[in-house]
Amino acid sequence: MLRFLRILLTVLLGVLWDGADAFARVSLVDGDDKCSGRVEVLHHNEWSTVCDRDWDLREAHVVCLELGCGLAESALRGSAFGPGRGEIWLRHVQCSGHESSLTRCGVVLYSNSHCTHENDAGVKCSGTLLTPTLTLLSPHTVFSPGEAVRFSCSVLLGQHLSDYHLYKDGVSTPLVTQRADHSQISVELTLSDIETFHQGSYSCRYRIKSGFPAELLSSPPSNSINITVVELLTPQHWYNTSTEAPAGSVIKGHNFNITCSTSQQYPGGSFQLRLIRSNGTVRQSLPALTPSVTFTFPNAQTSNEGYYYCLYRVQLGGRIFVSRESQPLPIAIRDPDPVLSPVMISWLVSGLTFVVAVIILIIVAKVLCNKEKKPSELERETRTCVENTYVALSVNKL
Ligand SMILES: *[C@@H]1O[C@H](CO)[C@@H](O)[C@H](O)[C@H]1NC(C)=O
Ligand SMILES: *[C@@H]1O[C@H](CO)[C@@H](O)[C@H](O)[C@H]1NC(C)=O
Ligand SMILES: *[C@@H]1O[C@H](CO)[C@@H](O)[C@H](O)[C@H]1NC(C)=O
Ligand SMILES: *[C@@H]1O[C@H](CO)[C@@H](O)[C@H](O)[C@H]1NC(C)=O
Repeated sequence: MLRFLRILLTVLLGVLWDGADAFARVSLVDGDDKCSGRVEVLHHNEWSTVCDRDWDLREAHVVCLELGCGLAESALRGSAFGPGRGEIWLRHVQCSGHESSLTRCGVVLYSNSHCTHENDAGVKCSGTLLTPTLTLLSPHTVFSPGEAVRFSCSVLLGQHLSDYHLYKDGVSTPLVTQRADHSQISVELTLSDIETFHQGSYSCRYRIKSGFPAELLSSPPSNSINITVVELLTPQHWYNTSTEAPAGSVIKGHNFNITCSTSQQYPGGSFQLRLIRSNGTVRQSLPALTPSVTFTFPNAQTSNEGYYYCLYRVQLGGRIFVSRESQPLPIAIRDPDPVLSPVMISWLVSGLTFVVAVIILIIVAKVLCNKEKKPSELERETRTCVENTYVALSVNKL
């Protein structure tokens, strides 16, 4: 019960205090616009001026923020906007800079200041807030997907700060928000686990609590910083050789070409072809001036046999980016087709000789048979002759 009463009392007091604040209004008079001029405070329904004793940027900020005019550019003394009239209400006001209203600042009571309207205080506000500065904390501007990008957003004059936001060009909602304590003039904004769509131009803004009742006022955007996200796709590769070579092989002495290809290109990129063979690895590279680049091998030898891999490599922003290696492409080097080999030729020659010999034998046999064949001859003899030929033929066939 007691606790409840205390809360009620606190709330009531708060309302009363705020009510008193709302009653005391501030305005800037005789300046170029509502954000510059002589400071006047409404006190007991009368506008009165403020004495310039110890009047500096801290007091001026409070006035500018209270008016929703950003931060103070200058605090002016000696009735810079001409002398006012009426009462000089606040004779020696001292703010810490965090107050939401000039009437909430402390007043030095027994000040011996002698104030006339020649000492009326004035203020020039920025109108909008000061522009923050975005810097890149990461040591480079080019990134791989999955990396984090660290920015820092800072503003020279920090008061009433609420939060900082990191914006990407063309996106209206902030990508990163960082709360700030009252006067934190710099925060780190980290974009983590970036993807390719994060590539672009970034800027930051901060917000301050301003005016009465307090609302959030957003600063103008900072300078912008471009970041690049490099995602290298795994290249494709294939080979071409003479049509008579069986799949997966190249005939020794013939030419063959391996083509590496990627759909994504960056200036200065190159393809690297790696051959893994039984006794080691051989690398060669060619600039990727076109999306597909061909490595030519004019005279295939056993040393060209092995597994070929392709990768894409590029140097950007002082960093080297390398794609994954393509699937292995096995290439076997075959001896030329045996049809033309000397061994085969000698086989062919002996085969031909054999066939010719057989034919000669048949002809000889036929000729002999025909000589002995006479109309008066016995059938038995003929049969024997035929049988002989048959025997001769079957011997030859064996
Ligand atoms: C950022 O990139 C844009 C185009 O993408 C370009 O117009 C602008 O000049 C770049 N800014 C900086 C600071 O490099
Ligand atoms: C090279 O080989 C690829 C894939 O095997 C094939 O698509 C292409 O037509 C060939 N090119 C030539 C010039 O033979
Ligand atoms: C390989 O490339 C060279 C040079 O571009 C070309 O002359 C040759 O015909 C190509 N070979 C094959 C098998 O495509
Ligand atoms: C690997 O073997 C090839 C021939 O098959 C030869 O030309 C090359 O010099 C050898 N390399 C090494 C490192 O021994």
